[in-house]
Amino acid sequence: MVINPKIVVTDDGSNTLVHPTIGAHYHSTFGAKQESDFIFIQEGIDFYVKKLDVKSVSILEMGFGSGLNAYNTLLYGLEHNISINYCGIEKYPIDVKLISELDYPKILNSENTANLFQNMHTSKWEEYSEISKEFQLKKINKSLGNIDLEEKFDIIYFDAFGPKDQPELWSVSVFEKMFSLLNTNGILVTYCSKGIVKNALRAVGFDLQRLAGPPSKRHILRATKL
Ligand SMILES: C[S@@+](CC[C@H](N)C(=O)[O-])C[C@H]1O[C@@H](n2cnc3c(N)ncnc32)[C@H](O)[C@@H]1O
Repeated sequence: MVINPKIVVTDDGSNTLVHPTIGAHYHSTFGAKQESDFIFIQEGIDFYVKKLDVKSVSILEMGFGSGLNAYNTLLYGLEHNISINYCGIEKYPIDVKLISELDYPKILNSENTANLFQNMHTSKWEEYSEISKEFQLKKINKSLGNIDLEEKFDIIYFDAFGPKDQPELWSVSVFEKMFSLLNTNGILVTYCSKGIVKNALRAVGFDLQRLAGPPSKRHILRATKL
């Protein structure tokens, strides 16, 4: 089912979406770009490639949504010469008419790659597509509870709507699945540092680090599969 979320501007001037039935924002209202840069790029892919000194990574994103995190990651890969396999799970794909209105190429200072952002959204679902030479994307149009993946990943961007809106996605059984989908030394990063999330992550065997968050957010989490 394709949806038409409303676009709203966040405090750092970047756009985000509001889900039409769940009513939740796709990114922090304090700043969509700021959140993506800090949590998923700085504390996610940048942390991982530097720690393990690697030039290629595989990433699973729970909640592909507007594609901001995916596109930001593609730009990171281009800048740092990292090759990326990216798999995004999304139950509610957005109408492609919204893509240009989101204005992310301009917001991320990369108007010359606007075609790549467009291609991310128009690429086929359920199979890998080459978005750029070093960025392969597979989008899966399923609910997280129904995914059945054979491949494993180095990094999980766990970017579901919050536990208040979707408690079922922050459960021990979901994190068990996430744990099983990670390679050894793989990491899961998320913006939510609530006690129930920390407890569920620890219960399935993750080594947990609570990190300082971006401005206006006290803490975020990075969980490692040792
Ligand atoms: C916080 S937003 C993610 C924002 C996204 N990472 C981005 O960069 O725009 C949460 C996303 O999870 C999706 N979602 C909600 N329930 C889901 C489910 N059960 N399975 C998969 N995706 C789901 C929503 O449609 C939304 O795109």
